[in-house]
Amino acid sequence: MPDSIDPNLRAKVDQIRKTLHRANYRYYVLDDPEMADSEYDRLMQELLHLEDAHPGLFEATSPTAKVGSPPVSKLDTSVHTIPMLSLDNGFSDADIRDFDQRVKRFLETEGDVLYTAEPKIDGVAVEVVYVNGKLTTASTRGDGIRGEVITANVATIGSVPLELQPASSQADPPALLELRGEVYIDKAGFEALNRKQLENDQKTFANPRNAAAGSLRQLDSKVTAGRPLKAFFYGIGACKGLTFSSQAQMLEHIKQLGFSVNPLIRSRLTVDQILDFYRELDRQRHDLPYEIDGMVIKVDRFDYQQTLGSKARSPRWAIAYKFKSVQATTHVRAIEIQVGRTGALTPVAHLAPVNIGGVMVSRATLHNEEEIAKKDIRIGDTVFIERAGDVIPKVVKVVTSLRTGREEVFDMPQTCPVCGSQAVRENTGGDRLEAVSRCANINCPAQLKERVKHFASKGAFDIEGLGDKLVDQLLTKELIASPADLFHLTSEKVAELERMGAKSAQNLIEAIAHSKQQVTLARFIYALGIRHIGESAAGLLATAFGDLDAVMNATADQLTAVDGIGEIMVDSLKAYFAAQGNRDLVASLRDAGIAPAHAPKAPAVSTLSGKTFVLTGKLNILTRNNARKQIEQAGGKVTGSVSRKTDYLLAGDAAGAKLQKAQALGVTVIDEQTFLDLIQGEGT
Ligand code: IVH
Repeated sequence: MPDSIDPNLRAKVDQIRKTLHRANYRYYVLDDPEMADSEYDRLMQELLHLEDAHPGLFEATSPTAKVGSPPVSKLDTSVHTIPMLSLDNGFSDADIRDFDQRVKRFLETEGDVLYTAEPKIDGVAVEVVYVNGKLTTASTRGDGIRGEVITANVATIGSVPLELQPASSQADPPALLELRGEVYIDKAGFEALNRKQLENDQKTFANPRNAAAGSLRQLDSKVTAGRPLKAFFYGIGACKGLTFSSQAQMLEHIKQLGFSVNPLIRSRLTVDQILDFYRELDRQRHDLPYEIDGMVIKVDRFDYQQTLGSKARSPRWAIAYKFKSVQATTHVRAIEIQVGRTGALTPVAHLAPVNIGGVMVSRATLHNEEEIAKKDIRIGDTVFIERAGDVIPKVVKVVTSLRTGREEVFDMPQTCPVCGSQAVRENTGGDRLEAVSRCANINCPAQLKERVKHFASKGAFDIEGLGDKLVDQLLTKELIASPADLFHLTSEKVAELERMGAKSAQNLIEAIAHSKQQVTLARFIYALGIRHIGESAAGLLATAFGDLDAVMNATADQLTAVDGIGEIMVDSLKAYFAAQGNRDLVASLRDAGIAPAHAPKAPAVSTLSGKTFVLTGKLNILTRNNARKQIEQAGGKVTGSVSRKTDYLLAGDAAGAKLQKAQALGVTVIDEQTFLDLIQGEGT
């Protein structure tokens, strides 16, 4: 029996949903927000809460889908109504003129054929299907015939409408609308994502396209919701209730319906205009916030497209004009060692500045000694440089034919270039040495500087205004010698620094004081900069142990028992807290009055490992989200429907059909109190 919903409540929920749909559109598509973030968050929380409390209000296209939906165990596949074709490639103006000639011959026309020119977004093709204006399915291109269903994941992308915007001219949304577009991660999003991956000891992505593809294929859309995905739409599949006569008209209309259409697209160009635009785009591409790898040229008129039709894998009415890849050769002037927060000594190549596709490159990381040996990179070499994924420069190979014999082999220093201490390569087990060498001196000034920067960074103490330059000054003027000293700074002292007025000094002192109040246990642990302990590991430790002493004094077994904390992390934690210097740092932070807020204690062992739960009815003690979180933290999972595989049905008040089904199948039904006992490991 579905919950009977009070009409006033339904009206309220409809109103919030409408407001949030609109806010998403204004924010993500128009880039012109009309609502404060705090108001948006408040409404989203209210809606999540109402949907939690009243399962009868469930709707797949509710704006709450933007924060992710329950995970699935595998991705289904579905067949595209109309196959998603690929494109032929052209590499020169001549190829494009040939294409234009072929089109004209086929259409038997002498006059100019007009084209639409679109940036070719370097992302992942998707199809989205709207039935009566609501998103029902999103899928990958797959093999063109059949793709993987990724609806919940695509629904998290801010700029993808869950419901079409009402178009002014028409009362009803189209009965069916299938659109194709490209999901991508922009350059800034990609760098931020990789930074986060590194901090959390997760693998980094080679380029934005891989990152987008990986994010779209997640089984848990909450993971996808945390990825900076965006989308542009450029094509149409099956459609009922709308007709278009050209690509330009279609793009204009889908914009009205709430889709992001690339703003650089130009319509109704002759082939000469297309070639001019190509050069313009090629010059501009490196300044764009996202990566493009060429231009897609499409015959604008749909009746012409129809006549031209398709070959086996690609249409005759479109072609991709690819950009040349961004590579260059230059000289290695020197190889210098950079010292990281954990003492890692990273060799960096200083290059004769070279323009790679519009960007001046003068440095490239060489990663480590093994990498230099493998590529045999020597000082003075001519090297082939590529901007990997068009963002980070890397040395691809040495042009050995240009060697003069005067090149110098680089020897990895045996000591730290900053403090002169011994550099060591640690044993990673099985007699293998770590690829990276490290400065073994915990008090090395270079390490200290990086540690202070990390301590003040966003996921840690988040001290506003404490940037690189200021950290440098504080250290060189010996105002601080450890992160703990930050809390003893006075505005008078800070005001003595260069380019530092009384007001800015006061602001910094206030920001430091503020950070002390707001720091959580998880941030505190992360701020210590323990190797291999990124933001997410720090969060796991905080939740599992609840206070800092418990983490510091935990045995290796206790640490290993925390889901998500691996052996390498355990070793690193033990080593960190074994060092007196580190224990002293923690003590001085505490002396400075820092008492990080305790996270709620989670069960020490995974009591519900492998157990499947279904939640139904109205809960009184917990919210559904909260119950779900607790189950997941204890190693169980939550699914949407009852089957023989369900271990427990957690039934709240007014449970209906799911309860009946569970009883019919003999699934264990528990109430909220029994559930809480179970979660605390007291039940059976
Ligand atoms: S049209 C039949 N337009 O490029 C038409 N594709 O190499 C096929 N792409 O699979 C696609 N931007 O993933 C089209 N403005 C654009 C595009 C675009 C990027 C991608 C798309 C496609 C691939 C073909």
